[in-house]
Amino acid sequence: MGFKSIAIDGPSGAGKSTLARQVAQQLGYRYVDTGAIYRTLGLLALRRGVDPEDSAAVTALLRERSIGLRYEADGLQHMYLDGTDVTEAIREPEVSRYASGVSAIPEVRDFLMEMQRDLARRDNVVMDGRDIGTVVLPQADVKIFLTAQPEERARRRCAELQARGNAVEYETVLRDILVRDEKDTSRAAAPLRQAPGAAVLDTTGKTLEESLQMVLDTAKKGVGA
Ligand code: DC
Repeated sequence: MGFKSIAIDGPSGAGKSTLARQVAQQLGYRYVDTGAIYRTLGLLALRRGVDPEDSAAVTALLRERSIGLRYEADGLQHMYLDGTDVTEAIREPEVSRYASGVSAIPEVRDFLMEMQRDLARRDNVVMDGRDIGTVVLPQADVKIFLTAQPEERARRRCAELQARGNAVEYETVLRDILVRDEKDTSRAAAPLRQAPGAAVLDTTGKTLEESLQMVLDTAKKGVGA
């Protein structure tokens, strides 16, 4: 009771996770990366050889209860699968495709929504995702829709993957982003869209510092910090 929440939604590569993490740090809030939860389920499907579009098979995976989420000493959210830390492994491009597939299944969304709401009941949170302001936390104190042009998002994603030692082609990353945008916005279950009352912030052409300032100003105003 009485905890504050800041919802940050938007397409992949708009800078949500970097900015949400920094805003959380500055305000002393907990950062909840909901995409990481979908990614962990995607990785589980990949490892078990389950088709991410097969809703019965994916829903059965949820019943295994092999997905874990823990805040560690570094203050950050770590994801576990069968007891192993998969926080890094879930960033692989193949896992992104599986995550997008499983996230279109309504039973998956219902199940994971409870997990997300539970986190917001226990702490002040900055939560990022696709449907946080629209579905998961419609009563959030602050709602932000963070966006940037696809080409810029692809450039950023490329740099991020390359920094992790992943040799990726810009064209491939851009194509993946466009396909995922289309899937995420056109799916029937909780499609990506702006929440009513959300502040729309565009980070195209902005430096990280400029973007952070913009998000932080909006967030602070909303929570009265
Ligand atoms: O933000 P991300 O790239 O880590 O998200 C991975 C996938 O999960 C993406 O395809 C959209 C989906 N997702 C979702 O449907 N709802 C959320 N709240 C977060 C992510």
